[in-house]
Amino acid sequence: MAAAVWEFLGRFLRLFSMPTLSRHYHALPSVLVPLVSFSVFAFAMSPRGALAGAGTAPNAKLVKTGKTLFTKNCASCHGANAKGGVGPKLQGITASDARITKIIKNGKPGQMPAFGEKLKAADIRALIAYLRSLK
Ligand code: HEC
Repeated sequence: MAAAVWEFLGRFLRLFSMPTLSRHYHALPSVLVPLVSFSVFAFAMSPRGALAGAGTAPNAKLVKTGKTLFTKNCASCHGANAKGGVGPKLQGITASDARITKIIKNGKPGQMPAFGEKLKAADIRALIAYLRSLK
């Protein structure tokens, strides 16, 4: 990380100490050098997960989070793996994301508690990703 910063600064300073080169190609180095340096810098800054995650389904992590949240908050009524219980089976649910979000937030009076206070928007997205992953 520190190495990338020094690399960036070094190249940037060298830009001003190349009078002969820059007389002929003055536009080229001044555009390319910062661009290359910035790419190196940006690459160094990027989270490892961006590369490590390549090849895995992009929402696999979301689905896993959703399953954990479901088991904790919903399975008591909707059954393990959402196969149904006191509450209806949610596997293969066809309702839109917006509709499911609304039901989770507001609940169903007298039947299902509202989770609007308890779950964040990201939690609800994870729950929906989990439900959509079930056939
Ligand atoms: C106390 C029991 C209970 C809990 C806990 C519960 N639900 Fe429900 N849920 C129900 C019942 C009962 C219904 C059916 C209501 C109806 O028929 O209108 C329902 C309906 C739903 C529906 C609509 C299903 C459809 O086909 O219209 C969704 C989606 C849903 N619940 C998701 C969840 C999620 C996600 C959680 C966890 C965050 C959860 N529920 C927790 C009892 C529960």
